[in-house]
Amino acid sequence: MDKFISKSEGETLQRARNFAGRLQAGSFVGLYGDLGAGKTQFVKGICEAFHVKEVVNSPTFTIVNEYHGTLPIFHIDLYRMKDVEEILGIGVDEYIEAEGVCVVEWAEKLDGIIPPKRFDVKMSVVDDSTREIAIETVDGGK
Ligand SMILES: Nc1ncnc2c1ncn2[C@@H]1O[C@H](COP(=O)(O)OP(=O)(O)OP(=O)(O)O)[C@@H](O)[C@H]1O
Ligand SMILES: [Mg+2]
Repeated sequence: MDKFISKSEGETLQRARNFAGRLQAGSFVGLYGDLGAGKTQFVKGICEAFHVKEVVNSPTFTIVNEYHGTLPIFHIDLYRMKDVEEILGIGVDEYIEAEGVCVVEWAEKLDGIIPPKRFDVKMSVVDDSTREIAIETVDGGK
């Protein structure tokens, strides 16, 4: 487990860009943390590392945003999803199996269907501009 303190939005982006070096086609990243913890900022940093040109913002209403970088990035926000059945209904397993990078906000909602090989990124608010970021490689990562 790697733990960091980020003192600014820019520092979180930098940490995410560095972390992205560990990702490849088929990777899965689960993001956890309260509203405003910085999950979407972290996704922005990952997208920068993959040279995504599209605007990255929270797909809360669309559920899935697909970006076209040096790999496809599937950015999924499960905040409004009720249960695993509803999540399967948006075709989440196809994104997970696709040859891209799948990053999922509120990944705890995937419950029993979360990929066993993955990276978990847990973010928490320390104060207005400070966040704790803990990155865990689960089952060797992917
Ligand atoms: N150190 C920091 N790292 C990241 N974001 C920070 C930091 N300090 C302040 N912020 C601010 O916190 C907010 C994080 O918002 P963000 O949309 O990334 O959160 P989120 O976890 O995706 O929330 P949601 O669950 O609503 O999607 C932004 O407004 C950002 O400017
Ligand atoms: Mg978000």
